[in-house]
Amino acid sequence: MRLVFLGPPGVGKGTQAEGLARELQIPHISTGAILRDALGRGTATGLAAKKLMDAGDLVPDAVVVDLVEDRFAEQDAASGWLLDGYPRNLDQGAALDGLLSSLNLTLDHVVFFECDSAELVRRLGGRRVCRKCGSTFHIEFAPPPQSGDCSEGGECEIHQRSDDAEDAILKRLDVYHSETGPLVDHFRSQGRLVVVDGSQSIDQVGVQLRAALERSS
Ligand code: AP5
Ligand code: MG
Repeated sequence: MRLVFLGPPGVGKGTQAEGLARELQIPHISTGAILRDALGRGTATGLAAKKLMDAGDLVPDAVVVDLVEDRFAEQDAASGWLLDGYPRNLDQGAALDGLLSSLNLTLDHVVFFECDSAELVRRLGGRRVCRKCGSTFHIEFAPPPQSGDCSEGGECEIHQRSDDAEDAILKRLDVYHSETGPLVDHFRSQGRLVVVDGSQSIDQVGVQLRAALERSS
């Protein structure tokens, strides 16, 4: 199974991808997570991306295109993947098409999660992430465990992503509309979008996602 998750920041792409990728036994490939990991390891790519990410801007296409190409070459990606946060503009969409055709592969589904901006701001403002296990929580909708529940052992180390500051959230929403909006229209005009209402609860979105994938298979 080869899937792309599209949608605005905070809509729940990562939350839904975690569970679905586990179920389908395919890797969840998030370009944002790869960049944050590179930053955590202090690599040149990570350090160069930090300023752009903190400001809510996109990292240059050439950087993410290479990251994805390298990730696809890893062993666990041989039987499929769930791409989250890539492609993010028309040029990245064209790069993905080129890479897939060079590998003789096709996409099974492009899932688009919709939600209004007020709710996205509420979700991003309340998001918390564990530094150790990478799990995502929300102070209101998915509270972090109280004690001793980290899948890496011991307590989760809860923190707020630096790009979840108010200014960066608003910038990311702007960038989403200007850069990713045309890509969504492109997939829609090709009749390739599986649309899911991302404004419902986490569980309801999960149910709708699986039903929509089943219908379009
Ligand atoms: P990235 O990490 O991809 O961030 P994003 O696209 O802004 O999306 P988010 O991760 O913020 O949102 P999400 O949809 O995953 O929501 P989540 O499930 O966490 O990218 C970060 C940065 O990296 C970019 O700004 C850019 O600089 C760079 N980058 C990455 N990819 C790039 C690319 N291809 N090209 C160039 N640059 C790139 O949920 C959000 C919160 O809501 C959580 O707290 C969660 O618990 C909660 N929640 C989730 N679902 C629900 C629900 N249904 N109801 C209530 N709460 C919910
Ligand atoms: Mg995410």
